[in-house]
Amino acid sequence: MKVLVTGGAGFVGSHTVVELVAAGHDVQVVENFCNSERWIVERIERITGQPLALDELDIRDHAALLATLKRFQPDAVIHFAALKSVSESAELPARYYDVNVGGTATLLEAMQEVGCARIVFSSSATVYGQPEACPVPESAPVNPGNPYGRTKLIGEWLIRDCVAAPGASLSAAILRYFNPVGAHPSGLIGELPRGVPNNLAPYITQTAAGQRDYIRVFGDDYATPDGTGVRDYIHVVDLAKAHVAALDALVRNEARELTLNLGTGRGYSVLELIETFSSVVGHAIPYQRQGRRVGDIGECWADPSRANHVLGWRAEKSLLDICADAWRWQQACSGRDALDPAVA
Ligand code: NAD
Ligand code: WQD
Repeated sequence: MKVLVTGGAGFVGSHTVVELVAAGHDVQVVENFCNSERWIVERIERITGQPLALDELDIRDHAALLATLKRFQPDAVIHFAALKSVSESAELPARYYDVNVGGTATLLEAMQEVGCARIVFSSSATVYGQPEACPVPESAPVNPGNPYGRTKLIGEWLIRDCVAAPGASLSAAILRYFNPVGAHPSGLIGELPRGVPNNLAPYITQTAAGQRDYIRVFGDDYATPDGTGVRDYIHVVDLAKAHVAALDALVRNEARELTLNLGTGRGYSVLELIETFSSVVGHAIPYQRQGRRVGDIGECWADPSRANHVLGWRAEKSLLDICADAWRWQQACSGRDALDPAVA
């Protein structure tokens, strides 16, 4: 199948491109590299052993996007391109709505113009806000607590409205990721946080590598077994495979619209994650308990049974796999030469 991937050099996108190529799909990436690096494309090519088609463009540029779509004539689009920082979205809400909502609208219009009728959309567990109970099913109420989360929810509504429009042929898989972590087992691609990481996993690996003094554990008084926050950490390769399975489900035409949680169905605490990383790294990783981070929730983990059933997919990698792969990637990033494709 011909698959156009927006944001295909990003964290989840790059791993998904690898799985799409492995599954025999013909992939075209569109990217503006606002949160990724050009050499990631070369790394993907090294893993797959094939050249990767790339058009450097902004998804808000309707004319450029349409030109790519007209030339490539995709059977489906997987739409990753978005801005994803919760804290930045509070500072720059208009930019987040412009890229995440406006970019998605531009993409949907261009898809309609070329008759491309399948989309897989990156949504987030953040749309649930503070869950009433865990595990969280797709039927749980949505109430995102920040602008980023609201752009994701509006993206979902926009896509459902396009599916439901009179005469429309669009079908959509809306995938709500829980906490994507880990890296490709090759150590060639992984997450590239800019500046000080907001997210726990890259903060832990950078601390283990000596780049940060200690991990700040945000809150130890939650109603969880050890008092620290509990999340559903899913390996990015498992997540990537779910996208290939979602495309297959759209082709099978099982439903016009699928909204699916992508998680493992198991929660781990901040301290459990630190301990598992410590066992992989081979030494204790320093941490200090601090007050709760504003806007955080105590516990959020998925009921992934719908995705398991509809996609015939389940997350297979363990927390140990996650930590081992993330640590391999961190070590590759720590050596400067390793990040220069001319040297690597
Ligand atoms: P990422 O930032 O690593 O990847 C996004 C990619 O899109 C980047 O390569 C960036 O350069 C590109 N991009 C951004 N704006 C663009 C534009 N206007 N035009 C063209 N390209 C553009 O993020 P990620 O972690 O891979 O996330 C992928 C998707 O999954 C996003 O939609 C994000 O909201 C969603 N998501 C991520 C997480 C997470 O924790 N990583 C969780 C839930 C949902
Ligand atoms: C995990 C746990 C923190 C950092 C965020 C977004 C969400 C999604 C994924 C895109 C929590 C604790 C963290 C640190 C800590 N992104 N923590 N010290 O908050 O579940 O989700 O990223 O859709 O929208 O909100 O992930 O990795 O930031 O935090 O103690 O330095 O780690 O309190 O319990 P979160 P996270």
